[in-house]
Amino acid sequence: MRVACVQFAPTFGNLDANTERIVEHIAAIDADVIVFPELATCGYFHLGVDEVSRIAEPVHAPDTGIHNQRIIDAATTHNKVVVCGIAERDGSQLYNAALIAGKGIPTPLVYRKTHLFYKETLGFAPGNSGFFTHYIEHLDCTIGTMICYDWRFPESARALALDGADLIVCPSNLVTHIWRMAMPVRAFENKVYLAVANRTGSEHNAGEDVSFNGQTAIYGYNGNVLADASAEADAVVIAEIHPEQTRDKSFNSINDIFADRREEMY
Ligand code: ACM
Repeated sequence: MRVACVQFAPTFGNLDANTERIVEHIAAIDADVIVFPELATCGYFHLGVDEVSRIAEPVHAPDTGIHNQRIIDAATTHNKVVVCGIAERDGSQLYNAALIAGKGIPTPLVYRKTHLFYKETLGFAPGNSGFFTHYIEHLDCTIGTMICYDWRFPESARALALDGADLIVCPSNLVTHIWRMAMPVRAFENKVYLAVANRTGSEHNAGEDVSFNGQTAIYGYNGNVLADASAEADAVVIAEIHPEQTRDKSFNSINDIFADRREEMY
């Protein structure tokens, strides 16, 4: 199966323009799973509940926001699995979330970011979905989602891997560089594929700048780079993966990285 990550700089606050771009990519990219960055529909540096309110939309029917619905429809029409960072509204709560929709997912799923980074804490509620996986039958692949700063907590990827993930997808707006050392380790220590869709560009709000460092990458289950992008240019990176190869966690006749865990000692 083929996994793609899309790297671009969303236009701040312009859901129409960003969604247009996202659905064009969904139609055009030849891959089974397409991952977009964190907050790809709306941009990142929205500060506080009032600002986040303006760009947050519900996912779940019957209140599905028009932009989320366009992404769900495009994924379904083009027989793709799409994971896209959005700002989600659920009643009065606002979440930094990933919409997971398309072929093999009859009802759209939402992962709500568990670990909020920096000033996200001013506008978003901490995610309450927990880490979950979803088996995509036609791909024979179990997918799990984490978002950006979740990488910093090994428990995020570990929880997904213990729940059966073959592929972890990570919509991101990464602002530091240390992730490039840690992400391949998340893949290696769990023996899973890991697809990190990061954005480029910079944003300015309330006298502060944030810059995002691209370098979107898809890692193999040994932590090797299967495909990657530059720090600044728009890009679509694609890798062929073999989900069933992640399932045997042994690496010699005695050791198995999951069976050898001693939870009672941790
Ligand atoms: C981040 O979690 N957007 C750094």
